[in-house]
Amino acid sequence: MVRNIKNFEYIPVEYVVKKFEHLYTQKEIIARLKKLAQLKIIAKHPSMEAYRITFLGLDCLALKILVTQNIIKAIGDIIGIGKESEVYQGLSENNDVVAIKFYKIGKRSFKNVAKYRGYYSDNLAESSWLRRSILAGRREKEVLTLLNNNNISGVPKIYGGALHCVVMEFIEGIRLNEVSELQDPSNIFNQIIEIVKCAYKDVGIIHGDLSEYNIMITRRDDEELAYIIDWPQYVSSASPLAQQLLKRDILNIVKFFRKRFRLNIDAEEVYKHIIGA
Ligand SMILES: Nc1ncnc2c1ncn2[C@@H]1O[C@H](COP(=O)(O)OP(=O)(O)OP(=O)(O)O)[C@@H](O)[C@H]1O
Ligand SMILES: [Mg+2]
Repeated sequence: MVRNIKNFEYIPVEYVVKKFEHLYTQKEIIARLKKLAQLKIIAKHPSMEAYRITFLGLDCLALKILVTQNIIKAIGDIIGIGKESEVYQGLSENNDVVAIKFYKIGKRSFKNVAKYRGYYSDNLAESSWLRRSILAGRREKEVLTLLNNNNISGVPKIYGGALHCVVMEFIEGIRLNEVSELQDPSNIFNQIIEIVKCAYKDVGIIHGDLSEYNIMITRRDDEELAYIIDWPQYVSSASPLAQQLLKRDILNIVKFFRKRFRLNIDAEEVYKHIIGA
């Protein structure tokens, strides 16, 4: 069904029957479709005999793939709800604690469409949100792989991914926006800038959405460490927007440290340091 997202939003029952008639009778297939719809894994077209997959269905498929590929073996509590994702804790095949991020792009906005415009008997756009979520998941998996392969520290280690889902190292700690005290604020600031610099110089990419909300602070052996998370909107340093985005990323961090920790930093100096001018 996922392979067919691109071709049609709704898949006619007829098509499903044809595809599985060597395994099940038509009656069995229809009963199974009804059961899946009850479980909200698929949704029926309001007037036609056709079904489409839902976000919940996509979640189930992604988990099945991740388990089959021996990437994860368990999923636990939800640890973060972002504007575009839901993040759960999990266990990798060799018992590492991992973060399992499911992209849910458009989930809230299309709920609102349905709520406020009752005459849309169904959500016509959901399949395009599914597709966008799959693209975002793929992009985050690709960029973390790139960063890991270039030995950039201060970013989560990637374990794998499937569809709209990415599995990465779980960063034990708190988001920088929630941190009121640091042992050494300028040390954390410098760590963040080093990550930005290495990503720019060694990998040729810019985060593009850097702020205190996408930085985690963890404590290891009594030392505070910064991690930059949430990379799917990264841009290449060759992009025409690169310098502007790099400056914006830097300014967000400089402003935050100025306000919260009273660090007196010149954003222009930091920018020059990063590009090596
Ligand atoms: N690797 C990780 N380890 C621990 N917690 C994580 C990890 N990745 C994400 N989280 C948690 O999940 C939250 C949302 O993750 P992330 O920022 O990647 O998604 P998002 O949908 O872009 O969120 P937002 O829209 O708020 O920026 C984070 O703020 C953090 O609390
Ligand atoms: Mg985020």
